[in-house]
Amino acid sequence: MKQDVVILAAGKGSRMKSAMSKVLHPIGGIPMVRRVLMTASNLENVSLHLIVGHQGEQVVASCQDFSTNEVWQDNPQGTGDALRRVASDLDPVGSTLTLYGDVPLIKRSTLEKMQSAGHDNSLVLLTTFLDDPTGYGRIVRDAQDLVKAIVEHKDATSEQHQIKEVNTGILLAPNKFLLGWLDRLDNNNAQGEYYLTDIISMASKDGVNIVTVHPENIAEVTGVNDRVQLSWLERQYQQEQAQLLMSQGLTLLDPARFDLRGNLTVGLDCSIDINCIIEGDVTLGDNVQIGPNCHLKNCTIGEGTHVYDNSLIEESTLDSQCVIGPFARLRPGSQLGANAKIGNFVETKKAIIGAGSKVNHLSYVGDTLMGDGVNVGAGTITCNYDGVNKSQTQIGDDVFVGSNTSLVAPVSIQSGATIAAGSTITKSVEENQLAFARARQTNKNDWPRPVKKS
Ligand code: UD1
Ligand code: CA
Repeated sequence: MKQDVVILAAGKGSRMKSAMSKVLHPIGGIPMVRRVLMTASNLENVSLHLIVGHQGEQVVASCQDFSTNEVWQDNPQGTGDALRRVASDLDPVGSTLTLYGDVPLIKRSTLEKMQSAGHDNSLVLLTTFLDDPTGYGRIVRDAQDLVKAIVEHKDATSEQHQIKEVNTGILLAPNKFLLGWLDRLDNNNAQGEYYLTDIISMASKDGVNIVTVHPENIAEVTGVNDRVQLSWLERQYQQEQAQLLMSQGLTLLDPARFDLRGNLTVGLDCSIDINCIIEGDVTLGDNVQIGPNCHLKNCTIGEGTHVYDNSLIEESTLDSQCVIGPFARLRPGSQLGANAKIGNFVETKKAIIGAGSKVNHLSYVGDTLMGDGVNVGAGTITCNYDGVNKSQTQIGDDVFVGSNTSLVAPVSIQSGATIAAGSTITKSVEENQLAFARARQTNKNDWPRPVKKS
C-alpha cells in the first residue's frame, strides 16, 4: 500500500518581497520545494501530491521531473483548506504525511522515524522545543502528558504562550480518520483560516493515540518566511555539508567559507582553500588542490591536479597532474590530457588539449583539437568565429606556436610545426615546417627622430 505525501506549496510568501514564489528560492542551489520532493521521493512506496497556487505554473515547471499529482489551491484559506483540496485523491485506507515546500531541510531519517512510530490508529506529530516559540502553534498536553490540541500563536492565551513545545507542521495521519476530520474543520479563529492543526483536538476527542517525534536538529524543521531566514538556513545547510565532506577526508581551509550547490565527490587528501563554490556534479581525484576563490561547475578533475586562485571551470574534464590558473577560465567542453597546463588569463572552450601541452599566458583556445606536447605562446588566439560560423583549429603533437599568433580557423597545424611569433596563420602548415606570417622588419640607419619646436 502506498503512503500519500502532500507537500504544501501554495502560499505567496509575501515577506520574501520577490517576484518569484517563495518555494522556488534555492538552498544549496536547489529550489526549496525540489529539496522537499527529493527527500519525499526517496521514501519507500509513496504517492506525491503537490499543492500549488501562487505562481503555480513556475512551481510545477520546476518539479516537472518528479511524478506528482498537482493540485491547485486557488484562493488559499489555510493549511486545512489545502489538505481538503487533495482529500478525494487520498487512499481512503492509507495514511498521509504532510510536508511544507518552505521547510526544505527535513531529513529522510526523521520522516522514517515518524513512519515507524505510526500505525493504523495513531497520529504522529513532529514537534520540537524552542527557546523563542513566537509565531508557532503550541503543543497543549494534559496532566498525563498526552497531547490534547495545537493552539496557533495568534489564538493562544498568555499561559499557552509560555509553552516551548511547538508544532513543526509536519504530521502523519491515517486517512480513515483524517478525511472525516478535514470535513469537520471550520475557520472560527484569529486568522479566519481552516487550520490543519485543529485535527489534533479532534483526534484527542476521538480517542486516537497521538505520538510525538522530534527532529535531529532545528534546521530540519525551520521554515523560510523572509530572506534573513533563507540566509540563516543556507548557512546551516553549508555547515552540515562542509562537515560531511571533512568527515570523508576533504581538507577545507575554512568550512565557513565554502559553498556547495550540488554534489562533490572527493578522492584521498584533496584540499579546497577559502571562498570556493562547487556547483552541479563535481568529482576530484586523489590529491587535488583547489586554490582560493575558485568556482567549479559540473567538472571532473584528475588526480594530483592543482587549480590556482580565481579560476572558473565549467563542464570540463581534466586528467591527472594538470596545472590551472591563477585566473584561468575553462568553459564547457574543455578536455585536458595529463600534465596539461592552462595559465593565467587563458580561456578555453570546446578544446581538447593533449597530454603535457601548455597554454600558459593570455590566450583564447576555442573549438580546437590540440595534440600532446604542444607549446602555445602568450597571447595566442584561435579566431574561431566569422560572425556566423564557428570553425575548428587543429594543432598536431609537439607544435610550437610563437607568442601573439592568430590562428584563423578552419586551419590545421601539423605535428612538429613551428609558428613564428606575431603570425596571422590562415593557411595550413605541414609537418615540421616553420611558418612566418608577419611583415618583415625594416631597420633604417641614423634615423632623424622628429624634434619638438620650442
Ligand atoms: C503552520 C502551523 C503551525 C506551525 C507552523 C510551523 C497551521 C494552522 N499552523 O503555521 O502550527 O507551528 O506552520 O512552521 O497549520 N499553505 C498552503 N495553503 C494554504 C496555507 C498555507 O499551501 O492555504 C502552505 C504555505 O505555502 C506554507 C505552509 O503551508 O508552505 C505553512 O503555512 P503558513 O501560513 O506559513 O503556516 P503558519 O502560520 O506558519
Ligand atoms: Ca498562516
